[in-house]
Amino acid sequence: MSAQVIDGFSIAQDVRAQAAKEASCLKSCGVTPCLAVVLVGENPASVSYVTGKEKALAEAGMEGRDIRLPAETTEAQLLDLITDLNADSAVHGILVQLPLPGHIDEDKIIMAIKPEKDVDGFHPVNVGNMMIGRKSYLPCTPHGVLVLLKTMHIETAGAHAVIVGRSNIVGKPLGVLLVRKEYNATVTFCHTGTKDLASYTRRADILIAAAGRPNVITADMIKPGAAVIDVGVNRIPDASKKSGFRLCGDVDFEAAKEVASFITPVPRGVGPMTIAMLMMNTVEAARAACKK
Ligand code: GUN
Repeated sequence: MSAQVIDGFSIAQDVRAQAAKEASCLKSCGVTPCLAVVLVGENPASVSYVTGKEKALAEAGMEGRDIRLPAETTEAQLLDLITDLNADSAVHGILVQLPLPGHIDEDKIIMAIKPEKDVDGFHPVNVGNMMIGRKSYLPCTPHGVLVLLKTMHIETAGAHAVIVGRSNIVGKPLGVLLVRKEYNATVTFCHTGTKDLASYTRRADILIAAAGRPNVITADMIKPGAAVIDVGVNRIPDASKKSGFRLCGDVDFEAAKEVASFITPVPRGVGPMTIAMLMMNTVEAARAACKK
């Protein structure tokens, strides 16, 4: 039997509607949630992500400060901008789209953002709080994956979750969250240094592909009945498309869906959830600022 394809787009729409409702409540108390979205340079994938975030903010009735800077922007100029945004009480969240051009130290930039405005959940204070189970902004993509699992009633307690990929944005935080008591999964991390990757992935009840490489997960690497969550977003040249490319995940979707019980497609799987959780974090940032 073919896997149930998880409709991340529609689940994300529900989360975004909830964010819009909460934003409207805050607005009636005189606070319009506002997120500053900063893009340095013109990386095509980043331009597309940032445009999607701006659109989602507008649709949820929130304010977006769309700040686009040239690729030559210096680290000092970007740090000055963050200082200004940190001090601006009308701005509740700050998101600097990654990756940044090579001459800018990403760590320095992330650490310059006030933890209270770090709706990405990338600042070491938020990462540390997440690690020890204290209240913090959760990084949007891992949080989105958890919401997908919960919405689809995919049991995490006692499940073996195998994560392929160890990025600070997805792999590592997702493992840290899944191992929390509330999710209670047993977590295995795999990465480019893992020997015999398939021997691990075949033991996964929940297989998370977050390697950023097309077809790194093939059908023979999946345990029959496993839930497969594909976080990969890869651009493949495709002359038949107007854009010249198509998107594909890290999983060989067509073959994998004949083995898995649940599977996320690319696009319209995990991707839309990232934006939806960002809307939720922005509302949360505005609410916290309001309480202050
Ligand atoms: N680049 C890829 N994913 C993300 C994300 O979630 N946040 C930011 N700021 N940059 C990204």
